[in-house]
Amino acid sequence: MTVDADTAGGDAAVDGDAAELTDTDASTETNPAASTESHSASVVGGTGFTGGELLRILSGHPSFDVVQATSRSADNMTVGRSHPNLRGLDLRFSDPADLESVDVLFAATPHGVSMERIDEFLAAADTVVDLSADFRLPDADAYDEWYDGHASPEYLDRAEYALPELNRENLPGADLIAAGGCNATATILGVKPLVDEGILAPDTGEVVVDVKVGSSEGGAGGGAASSHPERSGVVRPYAPTGHRHEAEIEAYLGLSVSFTVHAVDMVRGASATCHVFPDAPVSKGDLWGAYRGAYADEPFMRIVSGGGGVYRYPEPKAVAGSNHGEVGFELDPGNRRVVVFSAIDNMTKGSAGQAVHAANVALGLPETAGLEFDGLHPVGAP
Ligand SMILES: NC(=O)c1ccc[n+]([C@@H]2O[C@H](COP(=O)([O-])OP(=O)(O)OC[C@H]3O[C@@H](n4cnc5c(N)ncnc54)[C@H](OP(=O)(O)O)[C@@H]3O)[C@@H](O)[C@H]2O)c1
Repeated sequence: MTVDADTAGGDAAVDGDAAELTDTDASTETNPAASTESHSASVVGGTGFTGGELLRILSGHPSFDVVQATSRSADNMTVGRSHPNLRGLDLRFSDPADLESVDVLFAATPHGVSMERIDEFLAAADTVVDLSADFRLPDADAYDEWYDGHASPEYLDRAEYALPELNRENLPGADLIAAGGCNATATILGVKPLVDEGILAPDTGEVVVDVKVGSSEGGAGGGAASSHPERSGVVRPYAPTGHRHEAEIEAYLGLSVSFTVHAVDMVRGASATCHVFPDAPVSKGDLWGAYRGAYADEPFMRIVSGGGGVYRYPEPKAVAGSNHGEVGFELDPGNRRVVVFSAIDNMTKGSAGQAVHAANVALGLPETAGLEFDGLHPVGAP
């Protein structure tokens, strides 16, 4: 990670000039005990958006060999027919009823499928990484409250939350991994350093989060609300209160969060603006210390906070198609407020990239394997 010399110290960064960190050095960090063996992999739900993103990442991964991608609707059709960016991939979809035996099964299916089929998935694979919400929450009560209950609650204790920045130490050897929700991932990455540093107290700290998210969040069958004519140009509050990711955020941050989501006119990306009201006054130096302490050694995290140029704060467009996450912050002392920004690609850091990152850690592979690519710039609405 590089730090501009003029802004490396805490309060020196208040004026914002060039106060930007990048992750150049950290991205080469690897696990010294890392294995280089090849692992077979399957993607259940391969025609979907996150399934396609998994196939894109895994097909370029040095240690994974994709042997199966499933679809009920596109059985025996080429992967390239659903994902034109993968026309070069020599693979056809097969029926999810006939699972091949693999080292790692990635499930990119709608909520409810994995919890019904988890015994089959675990019989077919040594490690299951589920991208749905089916194993993210800690207990059956939470599923009763936020979803429609749970079909296999006996697996909830066994599942590990995928986000390595939060749960790295529990991933090695895990056989059931739950990738986080995209809005929850953006929010947790933004706010967690303040909780860890004690700037935000679990009992009294107040957090109000507004997430803007792109249409790919709704999946390939996103419905009328995500059709082009309806989505174009909107900044539409689609979950003013009661979004299910609120449960996930509260479970992993350990504090109450007021959470709202807007559907906006982009394809990829989730941008969380978090209004944080700490109990005690906080300085810009405190904030730099918290975020640098949390992310200086993280290979995929960038702190972008008031630097120069057009993109002075976290920006979904700057991370689109990559596994990077950006966080940044500003102080609003007159209102006792810290405003935190967090940007990810919902389909990469917010699901498929996070899933592969977690699998890398679980299997003892180099953490960044298969994920060492940047996004594009300039590019249209991501
Ligand atoms: N999109 C995002 O940004 C995002 C981010 C984080 C997490 N997630 C989660 O990731 C999961 C997948 O999301 P997505 O956006 O990729 O959805 P999607 O585009 O709708 O794709 C769903 C996939 O699952 C397959 N499928 C549906 N029902 C199935 C069943 N009963 N058995 C087997 N396969 C089935 C579909 O293909 P067939 O119907 O042809 O079988 C399709 O390939 C969801 O749980 C979602 O909540 C999504």
